[in-house]
Amino acid sequence: MIGSDGERYLDFGAGIAVNSLGHAHPHLVSALTEQAQKIWHTSNLFQMPGGEKLARRLADATFADKVFFTNSGAEALECAIKMARKYQSANGHPERFRIITFEGAFHGRTLATIAAGGQAKYLEGFGPKVDGFDQIAFGDHEVLDRAITPETAAILVEPIQGEGGIRTLPHACLKGMRELCDAKGLLLIFDEVQTGVGRTGKLFAHEWAGVTPDIMAVAKGIGGGFPMGACLATDEAAKGMTAGVHGTTFGGNPLAMAVGNAVLDIVLEESFLEHVAKAGLLLRQRLAELKDRFPDIIEEIRGEGLMLGLRTRMTPGEFVGALRAQKLVAIPAGDNVTRLLPPLIISDEELLEGVRRIEAACVALSRKPMTAGH
Ligand SMILES: Cc1ncc(COP(=O)(O)O)c(C=O)c1O
Repeated sequence: MIGSDGERYLDFGAGIAVNSLGHAHPHLVSALTEQAQKIWHTSNLFQMPGGEKLARRLADATFADKVFFTNSGAEALECAIKMARKYQSANGHPERFRIITFEGAFHGRTLATIAAGGQAKYLEGFGPKVDGFDQIAFGDHEVLDRAITPETAAILVEPIQGEGGIRTLPHACLKGMRELCDAKGLLLIFDEVQTGVGRTGKLFAHEWAGVTPDIMAVAKGIGGGFPMGACLATDEAAKGMTAGVHGTTFGGNPLAMAVGNAVLDIVLEESFLEHVAKAGLLLRQRLAELKDRFPDIIEEIRGEGLMLGLRTRMTPGEFVGALRAQKLVAIPAGDNVTRLLPPLIISDEELLEGVRRIEAACVALSRKPMTAGH
């Protein structure tokens, strides 16, 4: 990235895990410009071959049978929330409309998704919180079990919390949730808006745990920078969502579908995900070395693949500022964590250059008097 001042920056933020294939990837540019010369919009009253193709490819690559395209992550979540409620209602349980979510979650900025996220700073000043969300502690199975009531419809969780500070839900917790949902007739919804489409070294992060959801929200990386999202579901979970029950004007438009297909061309290439996993390991190793050398600055390294977080002993704002001074872009998150989310096509050379800049930032910070981060 080149700043308005002409300075070159190494981008370890990728638009918050969006530019999965970097900026202006030639395959994406040609897919978009080719489509732009044909047709931009028809409304989904008409068949859209690009959308059908992308939906089929997503379904073939995942647990899902059905795909609903949206323009953003929050809309994908709205679809997921509505689908879970509709499923219970269609099964004769309209009283089951509540969804259990987790402390530190982030699911978007619509009225329903700020209620799902449950964070005061996003809820304040917007009137009564949308009803139907029960938030509990992260990673406590007993608490989860007790939180399920006859009104519970579903459990909604990010396999790795992004905004919350790269907090990975232990695989055993995801397995436990799947079992609870199966035993109690609930739906399991994964929010893979930030973790999905290769970010963690698997196509979707839940694959690491070997657990599949009933519904999954996806966005960010799926469009490589073009605004789009998707809600994926099994036939069973989607059974209440018959034609006309939910809709969108722009979701699944031909431009987005052309880019989405082009992103998948690359992400599904043999060895692409292997590259992400390897690059992630290399980055993690080098960061661990930095943690050993600068224990007064770096406290912990978290995450999976190229979704890594550095928990620091100063505020993420201060750490991100120090990285910026070394011409490295990173993203602050909750829990005193700075996120490193480079494009998935990053080379080893670029990755090591990034580590050199993080090291330089640590050297600069260790010479400064420190302010307490937590
Ligand atoms: C896990 C997660 N869910 C949902 C969203 C909301 O996506 P959008 O901003 O595209 O509405 C985000 C955005 O950061 C996210 O990280």
